[in-house]
Amino acid sequence: MIAFITGASSGIGAEFARRFAEQGYDLIITGRRKEYLERVAEEIRTTYGRTVTMKLGDLSDPKHRAELTELIRSSADIDVLVNNAGHGLKKHFIEDDISNPEMLIDVHLRAAMQLMHAAIPGMTLRKRGTIINVSSIAGFAPTASDPTYGATKAFLTLFTESLHLVLHEKGITVQALCPGFTWTNFHEKLGMPKEEQLHRGILRWGTAEKVVDASMNGLRSGTVVVIPGLLNRAAMTLVTLIPRWLYYRLMKGKKLKRR
Ligand SMILES: NC(=O)c1ccc[n+]([C@@H]2O[C@H](COP(=O)([O-])OP(=O)(O)OC[C@H]3O[C@@H](n4cnc5c(N)ncnc54)[C@H](OP(=O)(O)O)[C@@H]3O)[C@@H](O)[C@H]2O)c1
Repeated sequence: MIAFITGASSGIGAEFARRFAEQGYDLIITGRRKEYLERVAEEIRTTYGRTVTMKLGDLSDPKHRAELTELIRSSADIDVLVNNAGHGLKKHFIEDDISNPEMLIDVHLRAAMQLMHAAIPGMTLRKRGTIINVSSIAGFAPTASDPTYGATKAFLTLFTESLHLVLHEKGITVQALCPGFTWTNFHEKLGMPKEEQLHRGILRWGTAEKVVDASMNGLRSGTVVVIPGLLNRAAMTLVTLIPRWLYYRLMKGKKLKRR
C-alpha cells in the first residue's frame, strides 16, 4: 500500500504524508527543497515506521514528470495519489514574463494530469484507488490579483468532478480539495509577511491539519468537492449565487498586496 504525494516538503502535502503514514501506507513524496523533504521523511520514518521514498525535482521540468509517471506505471501498489504541489505567482499575468504562468500550468495541471493518467490503469485493474487533487477556493470566482492561479484551480476542480463521473464505477474515489487561506509556506514564498496575512479579507485562516481533516472526512462521506471551513463554504455558495455584474463591481482592482 503506497501513497504518492506531490509537494510533501511542507504545508498541506506534509500533513497528508503524516496522515497516510498513520493509516499504514508507505510513501513516495516529492518536492524541490531537499532539506525540507528529508525532514518530513525522517519524521515519518521515526514516528510511524513506514518506508518513505523521496523524489526530488521540479514538476515544471518534463524530465522529472517523466521519471515520476514511469515510477507510477511500474509500481503495482500505488493506491493513493495526492496531486498537491503548487505555488502562486509573484507578478500579475500582464506584468510577468510568460514563462512563469506557463510553469504554473505545468505544475498545477500538466503534472497532475500526467500522474493521474499513469495511476488510473493500475487502480482500475485493482478496482481500488484514491486520487486527491488539491485545488483551491480561488477556482470558484475571478480575482484581480492573479488570473492564472484561479483558472488552473477551476480547471483542476472541474476535471476532478468529470473524472468522478466515470471512475466511481471502477472503485476509484476522486476528490477536489478546495482550501481557503491556510497557514503554510505558500504566502511567505510570495513575499507576503505573516503579520499582513492575518488581516486579509473576511475569510479565516485555516491550518494544514484542519484542511487534511476535511479531506479525510470527505473521503469517508464520498464528497467530491471538499471546501474546508464553514465560512469558506458559505462564501463560495454566495459567490456562485451573486450576479456576476455585482461581483465584478465589488472585486474590481482588489489585488492582494505583495512586498
Ligand atoms: N496555503 C493556502 O492558502 C492554499 C489555499 C488553497 C490552496 N492551496 C494549495 O495547496 C497546495 C499546497 O500548498 P501549501 O499551502 O501547502 O504550500 P507550501 O507549504 O508552499 O507547499 C507547497 C508544496 O508544493 C511543492 N511545489 C511547489 N512548486 C513546485 C514545483 N515547481 N515542483 C515541485 N514541487 C513544487 C513545494 O515543494 P518545494 O517548495 O520543496 O518544491 C511544497 O512541498 C497547493 O497546490 C496550493 O495551491 C493553498
